[in-house]
Amino acid sequence: MSDARALPPTIRWVGEVDGHLELLDQTRLPHHLEVLQLRDVDGVIAAIQRLSVRGAPAIGVAAAYGLVLGMRDRHPLPEAFVATVREVATRLFAARPTAVNLRWALDRCVGAVRDEPTLARLFHEATAIHADEEAMSRRMGEHGKGLIQPGATVLTHCNTGRLATAGDGTALSVMFAAWRDGVRFSVLADETRPLLQGARLTALELAREGIPVEVLADGAAAGLIVGGEVNLVLVGADRIARNGDVANKVGTLGLALACAVRHVPFYVVAPLSTFDAATPDGRAIPIEQRDATEITEFQGQRIAPLGVAARNPAFDVTPAALVSGIVTDVGILRPPFGTAIKTALADVR
Ligand code: MRU
Repeated sequence: MSDARALPPTIRWVGEVDGHLELLDQTRLPHHLEVLQLRDVDGVIAAIQRLSVRGAPAIGVAAAYGLVLGMRDRHPLPEAFVATVREVATRLFAARPTAVNLRWALDRCVGAVRDEPTLARLFHEATAIHADEEAMSRRMGEHGKGLIQPGATVLTHCNTGRLATAGDGTALSVMFAAWRDGVRFSVLADETRPLLQGARLTALELAREGIPVEVLADGAAAGLIVGGEVNLVLVGADRIARNGDVANKVGTLGLALACAVRHVPFYVVAPLSTFDAATPDGRAIPIEQRDATEITEFQGQRIAPLGVAARNPAFDVTPAALVSGIVTDVGILRPPFGTAIKTALADVR
């Protein structure tokens, strides 16, 4: 692999409605470049669950295409079309519970076929969702790039770049946009236990773009923030509740708490597809619990003593009070977030 810009697309639909879905297998990165070719919905569900495709916006786009594949195999009568779409969507929605982009994309697909119950209409909606997510990524980068000052050290968590979205990313889109404008800065990337999205994916994306990046153990971040070595923290989100509470990769809350101690700006970057107006606050956000072996084992080798159990929540919730601002595709939202979110969502719906 010579250059990240030459990586295959994270998600690509090949051909017309009778075509297939290609996903860059992120479980194999950075050392192996493998593209999965998927032709049925079960394959898409499995790819989402094992994190071959991951990151909230990317999961939403993959699920929309998965719905097309699921419906293509079923041939329901026209009068049963919408009900069958709902059935397949319910299976896809259960693949990962926290990222609300999954539900956003599937709800959009259901809404589209309610007006025109055909596979062609469903396929059209899936490709429109793909294009919209790409455009939202670009706009987040433009709105947020001014947050990064020349010479800054920016800390980030998990992977929020081209591998997590249909475009340049969320938090990483902001970094790419600033870098393209000639702003020079460096990045600290949390390794992001247990699946190492920071060490494997964020480091890959930034390094290949020429942005200086150092990987650090998640447990080192708070010390560096409180010690004055970090000027800005930029993270993504998997779901933002109506009051501005933010669910994101486990470990995000600790960063926000450290930032509050030292008054370091803590910004979340997320498209409007990540906001969940139906969820009042963070307590109502379902947190995905993943298999304990992701904690007790490393690369298939048992690490913890036999018989010892583990907890493996994939996400945590940062209270809105700890968030300095939320960079969206329609601008930067500031506290009080309840009002700002309501206005932003009303303007687009
Ligand atoms: O478990 P993952 O790798 O899907 O978690 C991803 C994150 O937590 C990202 O920060 C989030 O999806 C938002 S940025 C695209």
